[in-house]
Amino acid sequence: MKKVMLVFGTRPEAIKMCPLVKELQSRKALQTVVCVTGQHRQMLDQVLEIFDVHPDYDLSVMQDKQTLFDITANILLRIREVLEQERPDVCLVHGDTSTTFVTALACFYLQIPVGHVEAGLRTYDIYSPYPEEFNRQAVSILSAYNFAPTERSKQNLLREGKKPETIWVTGNTAIDALKTTVREDYTHPELDWAKGSRLIFITAHRRENLGEPMHQMFRAIRRVMDDHPDVKALYPIHMNPVVRKAAEEELSGCDRIRIIEPVNVFDCHNMMARSFLILTDSGGIQEEAPSLGKPVLVMRDTTERPEGIAAGTLKLVGTEEETIYREFTALLDDPQQYRAMAHAANPYGDGHTCERIADILEKGSTEI
Ligand code: UD1
Ligand code: UDP
Repeated sequence: MKKVMLVFGTRPEAIKMCPLVKELQSRKALQTVVCVTGQHRQMLDQVLEIFDVHPDYDLSVMQDKQTLFDITANILLRIREVLEQERPDVCLVHGDTSTTFVTALACFYLQIPVGHVEAGLRTYDIYSPYPEEFNRQAVSILSAYNFAPTERSKQNLLREGKKPETIWVTGNTAIDALKTTVREDYTHPELDWAKGSRLIFITAHRRENLGEPMHQMFRAIRRVMDDHPDVKALYPIHMNPVVRKAAEEELSGCDRIRIIEPVNVFDCHNMMARSFLILTDSGGIQEEAPSLGKPVLVMRDTTERPEGIAAGTLKLVGTEEETIYREFTALLDDPQQYRAMAHAANPYGDGHTCERIADILEKGSTEI
């Protein structure tokens, strides 16, 4: 029986890997082992609980205000024993976090084949997003199985010299997750609070935005909120204390902005589905929002998700206060501009990505 191990550690990896865990566990020809690094703690556990996934291993690496050195060193040292003990036929990692990169590196040291879920996303700017662009490029060098979400991501890998027989266009498991969460009859006290107003949904956390860029983002949001009394904003805040301090400094004191604790993925998807527009620097939200037909102002200078821009639902607005202020205001005040962005498009698959990946793992074999 082929042994497949999945390793993940942060919220977005968990949201996109848990549906795959479930699918793999349903396959009799596969033995599934789950290891979480615990790079995130509360935000990871929230997802494990919703999907009812119980890891076989938990490396519990998270530290308050952890640096890239902390995460890298702790995962590398702790995962070695797990990989040596389990010796999986293939180890699946997801996307571009430090958990992803370090696990792939450890697999390489032990010559364990790596399968990369969400492979081939690129900005080709090594510092944006940071350190994610490096992480995903580095994983691509050594991965034996590359599950590309779109044709465009496959083309990136081919251009870099990956062998075509190691790449499959599968869609993104984010859509598999999204198909199970959004409900017509969903209610939540925060949505009751926002009734009668246009609801803005906000998230922000990127490492390269910490500091001045994040302050500028928040200042722009605050100014637009002050200008528009008919608008309310819901901001489930990341647990990073640096993000929390900046938000507290720039956004407190406006009773139409509610900063709340991170919501579970079920609430998050439903809140996004009920919002008027979304402001974010998140990667995953750029994949989910086009499906929901929600305009997104992406507060970043680059994106590895050009499919959403091409579909018209995402707009890159950078991190400068004046640009965000102008673009956010325009979407609130100009119905034509809003309508041009608010239409459902789904470049990321049909919700059957996990089945495809499981089929490939059951049947396929590949060389690096
Ligand atoms: C990480 C990933 C990033 C991903 C993001 C998703 C890296 C280098 N970064 O960034 O690619 O987009 O997760 O959210 O892999 N914290 C808690 N509890 C939690 C989670 C975080 O308290 O459940 C706090 C801790 O103080 C921690 C800090 O947030 O030190 C930052 O977490 P970290 O994983 O280092 O970086 P993220 O910005 O979350
Ligand atoms: N999300 C969530 N609760 C929140 C905020 C976000 O469940 O309070 C979900 C969101 O729907 C998406 C994922 O978390 O699926 C994105 O995670 P994040 O922005 O932390 O990371 P990124 O995608 O940027 O790596």
